[in-house]
Amino acid sequence: MLKLFVCQICGEPHLAASKPSDCQFCGAPEKFIGLVEDYSTLWGVELTEQEKKDMEATLALEVNATAYYKDVAKANEKYSDTERLFKGFARVEKEHAEVAAKFLGVPLPEFTGEKTKGSVQKDLERTKDLETNAMGEYKDFLANASSQKVKDFYTALIHAENGHRMIAEGELK
Ligand SMILES: [Fe+2]
Ligand SMILES: [Fe+2]
Repeated sequence: MLKLFVCQICGEPHLAASKPSDCQFCGAPEKFIGLVEDYSTLWGVELTEQEKKDMEATLALEVNATAYYKDVAKANEKYSDTERLFKGFARVEKEHAEVAAKFLGVPLPEFTGEKTKGSVQKDLERTKDLETNAMGEYKDFLANASSQKVKDFYTALIHAENGHRMIAEGELK
């Protein structure tokens, strides 16, 4: 029997027989996925000055990552594994950008940013660096956060970006 689960981080619905292990939209870990009746919106909290500054930096990182992964996907052969991988990354980063914009109460900016580095190898290396850097920033932002909802957001982002970093690392071997 299918049930309606909702990701507490991005708010996206999952129709599934059992709780998914990771949110397929934002990559949040299982502990943030629950039944629809237990869902409450993550954003809408008043941000402190520090949280606002960090959230703006988060939005910028996520917009760049989305644009970059989209460009890498586009640069690779359609329906190739590489195109699919970077399309998958881009979708997750876009979801992160959307949540950050909702926290800030601003419209989603245009997705502009880095371009492909010219080869799959170089793009996987850049991905590894981008994700490692994002994780470092988000660990700081998590430590700076006052509200539980902002903390949950960064906890989920660190999990998701770490997953991307590990995929890139695995592909490079
Ligand atoms: Fe999610
Ligand atoms: Fe992200």
